[in-house]
Amino acid sequence: MVFLDGIRLNRQNVITISGITSAAFQFHHSDLFSVHFDQHLNFTEMCGIFAYLNYDVSRERRYILEVLFNGLRRLEYRGYDSAGISIDSSSVAGAVRSPSDPPLVFRQEGNIESLVKSVYQEVSATDLNLEESFSVHAGIAHTRWATHGEPAPRNSHPQSSGAENDFLVVHNGVITNYEVLKQSLLRHGYTFESETDTEVIPKLAKFVFDKANEGGDQTVTFSEVVLEVMRHLEGAYALIFKSRHYPNELIACKRGSPLLLGVKEFAEEQNNGTSYNEMNFISKNGHPKELFLSSDPHALVEHTKKVLVIEDSEVVDIKDGGVTILKFDNGKRKDGKSLSRPASVQRALSILEMEVEQISKGKYKYYMQKEIHEQPESLTTTMRGRLIRGGSSKRKSVLLGGLKDHLKTIRRSRRIVFIGCGTSYNAALAARPILEELCGIPVMMEIASDLLDRQAPVYRDDTTIFVSQSGETADTLNALEYALENGALCVGITNTVGSSVARNTHCGVHINAGSEIGVASTKAYTSQIVVMAMVALAIGADTISTKQRREGIIESLLNLPGKIREVLKLDEEMKELARSLISEQSLLMFGRGYNYATALEGALKVKEVALMHSEGILAGEMKHGPLALVDETLPIVVIATRDQCFSKQQSVIQQLKARKGRLIVMCTEGDAAAVCGGSCRVIEVPQVVDCLQPVVNIVPLQLLAYHLTVLRGYNVDQPRNLAKSVTTE
Ligand code: AGP
Repeated sequence: MVFLDGIRLNRQNVITISGITSAAFQFHHSDLFSVHFDQHLNFTEMCGIFAYLNYDVSRERRYILEVLFNGLRRLEYRGYDSAGISIDSSSVAGAVRSPSDPPLVFRQEGNIESLVKSVYQEVSATDLNLEESFSVHAGIAHTRWATHGEPAPRNSHPQSSGAENDFLVVHNGVITNYEVLKQSLLRHGYTFESETDTEVIPKLAKFVFDKANEGGDQTVTFSEVVLEVMRHLEGAYALIFKSRHYPNELIACKRGSPLLLGVKEFAEEQNNGTSYNEMNFISKNGHPKELFLSSDPHALVEHTKKVLVIEDSEVVDIKDGGVTILKFDNGKRKDGKSLSRPASVQRALSILEMEVEQISKGKYKYYMQKEIHEQPESLTTTMRGRLIRGGSSKRKSVLLGGLKDHLKTIRRSRRIVFIGCGTSYNAALAARPILEELCGIPVMMEIASDLLDRQAPVYRDDTTIFVSQSGETADTLNALEYALENGALCVGITNTVGSSVARNTHCGVHINAGSEIGVASTKAYTSQIVVMAMVALAIGADTISTKQRREGIIESLLNLPGKIREVLKLDEEMKELARSLISEQSLLMFGRGYNYATALEGALKVKEVALMHSEGILAGEMKHGPLALVDETLPIVVIATRDQCFSKQQSVIQQLKARKGRLIVMCTEGDAAAVCGGSCRVIEVPQVVDCLQPVVNIVPLQLLAYHLTVLRGYNVDQPRNLAKSVTTE
């Protein structure tokens, strides 16, 4: 699940609140096997859900629309290709339980702003009164990433039960048995408008509703309809239902995909540790309130920090200002077919440890820009409470609470296997040499999908380390399931508290980099390297011969935020460099040793956001092929900062110069003349201890990618075709 910084789920599933500095996580071994992996791994869609219900608070239609649009804008960063909303066509205040007019549905392919434009166009064409007030109103909204059916209004959500919009549904996830359900519904005379898997859900709801009301009087409740629908659904989902038969009421339920309820009340708090009984009690006192549902905390935090993390198999009924939760006892019966009887449950609200500033761009134009520039602070947070400086007699050391009980096991491992994708893989690659050096254990690198494609051997005496910013990447989670099945110790390194990686590994470390919203990972990358360096220090802490080396690294870690502040001063210089590269077709980056990862990551950033071909190349491989590409036109970045590979990189530079290569050399401050002899462009960076140099060296390349993107006129925060969290295979 995508989750909330600072919230930890304990074993009783009661949400407790922990500070943001609760750095490391630790989950009990027995927790692992209570997780139904099929709910998490293959089926989660990269979509966004948002809903807004105002109760006893007068809101104009225009205001309601804007809340829904803003909710969708907060979800934008996750990636999407179409969007939609549903609002009421007329006020049904007083909650008369008779069908209201059919709700209005607006759906549009493209970005949120296209949806906004089309809604206002339609509103003015139909004379819909934007100033009409609703004392109670339930609106739903959705961003869709196409999986079943192309991006098009008919495939966007809300999906409908039919022309009268009796039941409307927004859905994240995938319904795996939709074909079977569709065939049954077709036999019952239903017609389908979309190619989505989702459309069966509202149609099934209508089918259930009509069947239950065949006698005449409407007695079946909305939650009974949804519970019956859930019994027939297989796959993973977070759903919100809206119906004209149940005006001003919303039902939310989930299995696999994340969903949160945010609560904002307009009267004095009755209690601090509110449970849902208290919620109902408050509503009976007539307290006006606003309720929000979202698949992502980023869409809630500007409204409220009081949230309920909805759990799998729960059905949340929001009606008359109250909230009732029903939960299927065991989620799924042993035969895997239908759900058992639901029972009413009480749940605690938690407080989001997230600030609005974290999700706003502040003084910056783009999230990627902001996130690059906040690395001195994010690195400070990553290290907070984990580095022990040591007094005159005490030695410098590292404390990682979530790992300490497993260090002995890790030290006895046959291998350490890093597993991740994209930037997270690159971060692990950057940390590999220091792990090998300090731990003396062979360290293997695995791209998650490749490990699975090969079904590569993983053993009981392996330590597998899963690196993932989101903690929700499908390939990484599938590899985690595979490693668990093979009996390896599984360690998680993630930015997302409560994520699947955090919940399903035996132990691990949160990187605490704060929300990363730009699709291009920047601050998470540097924090991941720092965490893995600390992991190496912790594992190697029992080796006397490396004491001095370890203390040097700790000292350098403490000074790292200051060095990042220095290197960020290259911003203008990188903009100039970007200007000179703006119309290039391709950019190569050569690195080796600690900075092979820098070359890969720098190239990934350039191709990902600037949409320019870029390759990170291991400099040692240059003569085995890439050298053929070198001429006076192709720009090549060579990373040649001071470390044990420095002289080899000098020789690479000479060979490239001999072929008239167009070089941009990254070197240590003061080395420009020695490295280049004044004949190539130079990026001078501050020096830190070799194993942390990749943290410094990536920053100018992040800035370069950022400026190239802006200058080339592309979307920095939402690169073409990419989503923040790749939750499908
Ligand atoms: C990074 O800029 C990319 N967006 C991408 O490579 C990302 O790092 C990868 O998808 C893995 O994501 P994760 O760290 O959330 O698992």
